[in-house]
Amino acid sequence: MSKVTVVGAGNVGATCANVLAHKDVVKEVVLLDIKGDFARGKALDTWEQAPIDYYSTKTIGTDDYAETANSDIVVITAGIPRKPGMSRDDLISTNAKIVTSVTESILKYSPNPIIIVVSNPLDVMTFAAYKAAGLDASRVFGMAGILDTARYRAFLAEALDVSPKDIQAILMGGHGDTMVPLPRYTTVSGIPVTEMIDDEKLTAIVNRTKKGGGELVQLMGTSAWYAPGAAAAQMVETIVRDENRIFPVCAYVDGQYGLNDMFIGVPVKLNKNGIGEILELQLNKDEMALLNQSAEHVRAVMDVFNGMSLA
Ligand code: LAC
Repeated sequence: MSKVTVVGAGNVGATCANVLAHKDVVKEVVLLDIKGDFARGKALDTWEQAPIDYYSTKTIGTDDYAETANSDIVVITAGIPRKPGMSRDDLISTNAKIVTSVTESILKYSPNPIIIVVSNPLDVMTFAAYKAAGLDASRVFGMAGILDTARYRAFLAEALDVSPKDIQAILMGGHGDTMVPLPRYTTVSGIPVTEMIDDEKLTAIVNRTKKGGGELVQLMGTSAWYAPGAAAAQMVETIVRDENRIFPVCAYVDGQYGLNDMFIGVPVKLNKNGIGEILELQLNKDEMALLNQSAEHVRAVMDVFNGMSLA
């Protein structure tokens, strides 16, 4: 039975803890926030929902890292969200310090957790957590691809008037406007999506997906939380159940797709050890060019991070 810590009791963290509790696959979820009473309130509210929605997972709120001791999995959502007009990259100076210090505090009490980063700018914050944690790269990765693919699948389901359940897709690259949805690897119950929708509509959906996070920031004045929180919870579930499910995950690449020493979205097998394997698709020239463009963008943000003082 597992213990999971979610750091940050804001919208994404609280949603992740709540969705995870509903899955009823872990013994305990600790929700930690520097605003201790806020985390305690969110955790208590989720615990009081247990008799109604029928789960046993205990949720505990705290501001004390000691309570996170011996966590098997830690989800880091701490940091500021973006406001209208901001890109995810604008958050780097604040969030890099937060993610680094959160990771260090976690490691004091949990020697070998699996860490899932959700804070933005995602690819570089995952790199920051990896550097601070000193864990094997298979145990530190980021949530973005499940969310971005979910948006792509939801838009396709709407356009095709089919259930979102039946859209299968993969998407690669950084969690930003250069992400790379892959129509060639998108099916509707096994039927290639290109047989069901014309190019123009598909291109519009791909473009909407790339700016999907920004669309919600515009609508709400802050960034999204239901789908992001649920996506992180789905990763936890897959790890706890040791399912070997295939998801796009922000992972450390070491030569795959010709990319090195960085974190970026790639298809992986997820299991109890974290990343079991990175899958190498046979991308065509155009897809590869888009992935490289996205990687260049992530590298530019990494350069800002590498030039920063984290004190
Ligand atoms: C989004 C944020 C969570 O894409 O990055 O909504």
